[in-house]
Amino acid sequence: MYSSVQDLSNASPVTVKTLREMRDKGEKIACLTAYDASFAQAQDLAGVDVVLVGDSLGMVIQGDNTTVSVSTDDIAYHARAVSKGLHRAFVMADMPFMSYATLDLAIANATQLMQQGRANMIKLEGGEQQAEIVEYLSTRGIPVCAHVGLCPQLIHKLGGFKVQGREDAAAEQMLRDARALTDAGADLLLVECVPAALGRELTEQSPVPVIGIGAGNAVDGQILVMHDLLNVLPGQKPRFVRDFSAPGRSVREAFGAYVAAVKDGSYPAADEQFFAET
Ligand code: KIV
Repeated sequence: MYSSVQDLSNASPVTVKTLREMRDKGEKIACLTAYDASFAQAQDLAGVDVVLVGDSLGMVIQGDNTTVSVSTDDIAYHARAVSKGLHRAFVMADMPFMSYATLDLAIANATQLMQQGRANMIKLEGGEQQAEIVEYLSTRGIPVCAHVGLCPQLIHKLGGFKVQGREDAAAEQMLRDARALTDAGADLLLVECVPAALGRELTEQSPVPVIGIGAGNAVDGQILVMHDLLNVLPGQKPRFVRDFSAPGRSVREAFGAYVAAVKDGSYPAADEQFFAET
């Protein structure tokens, strides 16, 4: 039973081990993005397990059309603020565009996010070509989340945001990518915008928890950009976004409603998932 405010006074901080145990027990992992201490605290009190300081901040905070302009300093600044708002939730910080183009850059920037940003884990985008970097960071004690499927940092190569892995060859490549990344030491996989059946396959083959955004409901947890869930921005919503704001509902209650819907499996519903033909 989830209410909008959890009693966290005795709650231990979420760790990589907690996330693995949640997966093993079949407890869904509720994740959200946040960019400052106040919203992070509201999410923490609502029972959010993982808070991502995403490079989506380029779009929802800085007003750009893509995430490409975000710097490591930007993420470190926001991650530090977010971490101050949290008591229980785990903090994940995005490695921005080109901040992991070489092993030296990757280790320097990941260290900055963990030391200045106080992140518990870093996230980077890409497939099996990133396995060397994942291994390099992971073997040096940096927990890594590998982001596959739609990778927004590749927007200028992809030419737009669209569902990935629809064709058999692309789906097989994504399964290979995910295997290479977890073999290299990734502790978490994040899968964005893929058909629900592929989200299920990725989860079934994965030795680590899989968090989805537009990846169906068979994954181990869900993540949304906070502004989407609160329906802050006008315009067309992606199919997988549910508006958890409601008249008379506080922000913290909206976060609580999201956590409850993730935990009981009612989010995402069928019309919030991609299928072969949709
Ligand atoms: O930057 C971000 O907010 C993300 C989410 C879309 C998962 O990577």
